[in-house]
Amino acid sequence: MAEPLRLGLLGLGTVGQGVVRLAQRNAALITERTGRRVVITAASARDTSRQRDCDLSDIRIETDPMAVVRADDVDVVVELIGGLDPAEALLQAAIDAGKPVVTANKALIAERGNALFERAAAAGVPVAFEAAVAGGIPVIKALREGLAGNRIDGLSGIINGTGNYILTRMADEGVAFDEVLADAQRLGYAEADPSFDVDGIDAAHKLAILAAIAFGMPLSFDAVTCEGIRGIVTKDIDLARQLGYRIKHLGIAKWRGDAVELRVQPTLLPETELLAKVDGVLNTVVISGDAVGDTGYFGPGAGGDATASAVWADIIDIARDGGRSRVPALSSGDGAIRPMPVRSLAETRSSHYLRLQVADETGVLRAITSILADHAISVEAIYQREPRGGKDAVIAMITSVVSESQVIEALDAIKQLGFVHGEVTRLRVEHPGD
Ligand code: HSE
Repeated sequence: MAEPLRLGLLGLGTVGQGVVRLAQRNAALITERTGRRVVITAASARDTSRQRDCDLSDIRIETDPMAVVRADDVDVVVELIGGLDPAEALLQAAIDAGKPVVTANKALIAERGNALFERAAAAGVPVAFEAAVAGGIPVIKALREGLAGNRIDGLSGIINGTGNYILTRMADEGVAFDEVLADAQRLGYAEADPSFDVDGIDAAHKLAILAAIAFGMPLSFDAVTCEGIRGIVTKDIDLARQLGYRIKHLGIAKWRGDAVELRVQPTLLPETELLAKVDGVLNTVVISGDAVGDTGYFGPGAGGDATASAVWADIIDIARDGGRSRVPALSSGDGAIRPMPVRSLAETRSSHYLRLQVADETGVLRAITSILADHAISVEAIYQREPRGGKDAVIAMITSVVSESQVIEALDAIKQLGFVHGEVTRLRVEHPGD
C-alpha cells in the first residue's frame, strides 16, 4: 500500500470539526477508495482550549496556522479558516512549498482566485475548492467535468442556505427577519459576519466562481450585481403568493450572446418552478447546457458535515494520484480563460413585481397603467386588496419583460402621482426561458 497521505487542517470551526469526524467515521472506506490511508496529522485553532465536537487526540494542535503549512509531516493543506487574510498568505506558502491545497474559502477564491490559480499552475500544484460553492453539493465537479461537453447557456440557484432558511421561515411562520437570523447563527449556517449571507455577498462569491467555470472567464466578483434580502417583508411574500409566486434569493448567471449577466437578487419565481420549491437551508443550482438542457443539483448547502463531504471529495481526488489528473481550476486550460463583457444592471431585462400603496380613488389604476404603457411596459398580472374603512389600497402587479432603466423611469413618473403614497416596492421576476 502507498504511503499514508498526511493532512494539515487550518481551522477547527464548524467545517473543520466535520472534516475530522468524517475522517474518523469513514477511514476504512476512504482507504478502499484511494488505496492509501489518509490521516490528519496537524490542525490549527486560535483557541485550543475550546470544547469541540470531534476526537482530536491523534492530532497535533498548533495556534499558528503557518506552522501547520510548513510542517514536514503535512503533505496537503486543508484551509477552513475563511476570509481573505491570512488565508491567502497561507495558501501561497503551501503552493510555494509544492503542497496541494483544498479549501472551502469562497471569498478568497472569488476575490483573489485568479492570482492564486496562476501561481498554483506555475508551481504545478492543485488547488481544489468544491466546498466553496453550495456546501455538500458537488456542483463544481458537475459543471467542470460532467457538463464539460456543453456550452453553458446559464445557471441560476439558491446558493446561500442562511438566506433561504430565513425566507422560508418568514413565508411559513410569518417570523420576523432578525429572529430567524439568530436561529440560523445558532445552527451554524450563517457566516461569521451574517451580513455576508443577508446582503448577498456570500452568494455573489459563489456565483462568481460558478460563472467563471461556466463561461471560461476570469473570476469577476466585482462585476456581480448584488442585492440582499433585508428589505423583504412578509407583506411582499404574501402578495407574491396571491399572484402564484414565491420569493427566493437567487444567484443568476446568463450568457446573452454578446455579454453575460451576473446578478444576486431577491426574485419572484412561479410557484411551479423547481427553485421555488426549495425550502430551508437547502441549496439548488439549475444549469443549462446546449446539449443536455436543464440539469438540477440539490442538497444541503451549509453545515459542518455536509461541507466536509465536499472537502473530502477533493482530498480523495488528491489522495488517488496526487492531483495530477485534476482538471484545470476553471475548466478551460491555460490561455483559454478570456474576459467577457458583463451587462450593466440598467441594460438587464426582466419582468418586475411592483407593490404600490394608493388612495382609494376612481381612475388610480388607469393612471398607473397608462404611465406604464407610455414606457412600453404591459401588466401581465395584477392583484388588489380590497381597501376597508377609508384606508389606502395595495396593488401588486407583474410587468412584462422590460429593461431595468425602462421600469425605473416609469416608476419615477408614477411616484409623482398624488395618490401614490410612500415608496413603490420593486422586485425582479424570473420565468423559465427569460
Ligand atoms: N453561510 C453559508 C450559507 C454557508 O448559509 O450558505 C455555506 O457557504
